[in-house]
Amino acid sequence: MKPAQAIYRIDSSEATLLLSANGAVPRMLWFGASLPQIADPSALHSLCDIAVPQAKLDTAVPLSIFPDSGSGFMGPVALEGHRAGSHFSCTFKIEHIEQSSASIEFTLLDPVAELRVRTEFLLDSDSSVLTINTKLENTGSNAFSVTKFASATLPFADTFTECLTLNGRWGLEFQQHRSAISANQLRIKNTSGRTSHEYFPACIVGQQHFDAERGQVLGVHLGYSGNYEFTVERLSTGEACLQAGMAILPGEINLAPRAVIDSPPLYACAANSLNQMTQRFHRFARRHVLPKWTRAPRPIHANSWEALYFDHDEKTLLALVDAAANAGAERFVLDDGWFHGRRDDTSGLGDWWVDKTIYPQGLHSLVAHVRKRGLQFGLWFEPEMVNPVSELYKNHPEWVLQVEGQDTPLARNQLVLNLGLPAVRDYLYDSIAALVDEYKIDYIKWDMNRDLVLPGNNGQAGVVAQVNGVYELLDRLTSAYPALEIESCSSGGARADYGILLRTGRVWTSDSIDPIDRLTIQRGFGLFFPPEIMGAHVGHDVAHLTGRATSLQTRAIVALQGQYGYELDARHISDDEREQLVGYAERYKQHRHWVAECTTWEVPTRDASLFVKGQVSADQASSFWTVVVSSSLDTTLPEKLRLLGLDGAKRYRITVVGWEALKSFAKHIPDWVVSGAVVSGSELMNIGLNLPVMPAQSALLLDCSEA
Ligand code: DGJ
Repeated sequence: MKPAQAIYRIDSSEATLLLSANGAVPRMLWFGASLPQIADPSALHSLCDIAVPQAKLDTAVPLSIFPDSGSGFMGPVALEGHRAGSHFSCTFKIEHIEQSSASIEFTLLDPVAELRVRTEFLLDSDSSVLTINTKLENTGSNAFSVTKFASATLPFADTFTECLTLNGRWGLEFQQHRSAISANQLRIKNTSGRTSHEYFPACIVGQQHFDAERGQVLGVHLGYSGNYEFTVERLSTGEACLQAGMAILPGEINLAPRAVIDSPPLYACAANSLNQMTQRFHRFARRHVLPKWTRAPRPIHANSWEALYFDHDEKTLLALVDAAANAGAERFVLDDGWFHGRRDDTSGLGDWWVDKTIYPQGLHSLVAHVRKRGLQFGLWFEPEMVNPVSELYKNHPEWVLQVEGQDTPLARNQLVLNLGLPAVRDYLYDSIAALVDEYKIDYIKWDMNRDLVLPGNNGQAGVVAQVNGVYELLDRLTSAYPALEIESCSSGGARADYGILLRTGRVWTSDSIDPIDRLTIQRGFGLFFPPEIMGAHVGHDVAHLTGRATSLQTRAIVALQGQYGYELDARHISDDEREQLVGYAERYKQHRHWVAECTTWEVPTRDASLFVKGQVSADQASSFWTVVVSSSLDTTLPEKLRLLGLDGAKRYRITVVGWEALKSFAKHIPDWVVSGAVVSGSELMNIGLNLPVMPAQSALLLDCSEA
C-alpha cells in the first residue's frame, strides 16, 4: 500500500516553504517567493513524482531534507557515524510530524541504527528567513560515534549556476569569490576552531551573474563559531543541493545512550537579488539574533590599540582620552597591555588583574577621567588564551587544550585554555566579573587571536566542547550583566557569525583600517550583518597594516559605513584634522538614531573601482550614501549614479560632503554637487546623478533627506 502523502506548508510575508512527505524522509518542494494556495495536493504530488533512470536503483532516490545512505543516496548524506564499527549506515522514516503556523518539526527514526533525528523548520514571518535546527538522539544502548552531522541539506533551482563565498585572510576578510556549480563538489571546510578569516560560514547560490540588484539567489549562513563544512553539488540526476553543518574531528562526538546533540542553526533566505537577501538577513538578525542594546544609537569609539599599542601608562592614557573626546569620541576603549605582566605580546594572558607596576592605583583615575569627560569605558580581554609566561600557566599548565606528548605550536606566543573544563570557565567568569564590578565597565572588546591546533581535551578532540564553553561563559556574563556590551574580535573579523552574535553585538571587522581595503571587507561583511554592528574606525594617514596613505576624508567616509570611531592617535592631529573629525562625528550622530532599522543598498557599478553604498531609513525620509573610488576609473567621468530604495514620490534634498577636495581635478563640478538640489526620489532612482570627476582613493558623502 502506498503511504499517505501530505504537503506541509509555512508562509511568511514574502515567502512560502513547501515540504512533501510520504512516510520516507520529507522533500523540500519549494522555498522561495510566496505561492498561492495549492488547489490539489495530490496533483502536486504527481507533478513532483521522479523518473527512475536505467542503470541505477530500481526505485527513485529523491533528494530529501536529511539524505541518508540507506535510501541509496549517493550525494552528500546528512549523517555519518558508527557504533564500534556497526550501524555505519542509516535509513530514516518519519516517526512524527508537528506543525504550527510558523514551524514544522519532523521526527525521523531509524530503529535499526537506533537513532532519532528531529529537524525543525521555522519561517520568520517578517524577514522570510528560514531557520533549520536539527537534533540527533542516540536511542541505542551503547555509544554512537558521530563523524558527520549536517544541519540541513537544501535543494536549489537548476538555473542556479554560480556560488558566492566569502574568503580571506588576516587583514583582508570577507572577500567575495565566485565558483561555477558543477558535478564536482564545492567544499568549504573550516578546521581552525574559530569562525576564521579564511572561510566565512555562508554560501550564496544563484542565477548566472547575480549581483546586488539582479538574479535570484539562495543564501545560507551557519550560526556557529567552530569547525564547519559546506558542500555544493549538482548530482548526476541534475538535482543541485547545498549542505552545511559542523565539522567533527575524529572521535570528537561519542553520543552516549539517550544523549542528544544539536547541530548549529542554519539560516536560509531566498531572494530576487543580493540587496533583497541582505535586507532580509539584517531584519532577521536585528529581531532574533543581536542583543537588545544594539537597537540604541551606537556610540563613537576611541580605541587605544593603534594609537599606543602596548606603550601606555596613566599619563599617556589621560592625554589620549582628552584628545579623543575633543575629536567627538563617546566611549574610550583601553585595548591590550593593561593587565599583569603585559608589556608586549610575550606574556601576561590569563592574569586578568591590573598591572601594579604600570597602574599602582589600578585604573580608577583613568576611568574617573573618562567619565568626567562624558565618555563610557571599555576594556580589552582575550579570555580564551594564556601565555606560557603567566601566573595562570605556572599554576595550571593542565588547563590548556593540548595532546599529551605533542608540542602545541605557539601563535603570538600563546596557547588556548580548555573552556570545556568548568574550572576554567569559573576562573574566567570570576576574573572578568570582578573587573566589571570594580570599574563599572560598559563594554568589553572580547578578542581571540589564534587558530586551534592539537585541541585535545582529556585525550580527545575538544573543539565542539570549546565552542560550547565559550558560549556558556558569554551567556553567564551577559545574563549577570545585561547592559554590558560585548564586541566579538578575533584578530579582526575571524569570529563573526550569528552564533557568537547571540551573545555579542559588535564585530571588529578587520585589523586593516586602510579605507581602500575596507571597501571590499565591509561590502562582504555587510551581506549578512547590519551596519550598526560593524566596527569601522578612522586610522592614521598611513595605514599600519598596508602602508597606504589616504586622506582623512576618505578614511572618515569609509568609517561612516559602520559604527564610526577612531583608532588614530588623536593627540597628534592638527586643529584642522580635529575639526574635520568633529564634523564627521556630527554627521554620524545626525543619522545614527535610525540606522538600526535602516535598509542598506549596494549600488551595482560597471566600473569595479567605484563603490557606492547607502543606508535608507525605514520611513524612506532620510538616507546617506558613500561614494568611493578605490583606484583610477577607466573613464574620465564616473558612471551615472542611480540611487536605490527611496520613495519615488517624495522630494529629497541632496547635499554633498567633501566635494571641495575634488576642485583641482576638473574644470567644472556639476551644479547639484556644489549647491545641492531638491528632486524627487523617482528622478534620483531613474535619471540619476552625474558625479564629479573623482580620482583614485577619493570619497564623497551624499546626504539625501526628505525636503
Ligand atoms: C588583535 C585585535 O584585532 C586588535 O584590534 C587588538 O585588539 C590586538 N589584538 C591587541 O592585542
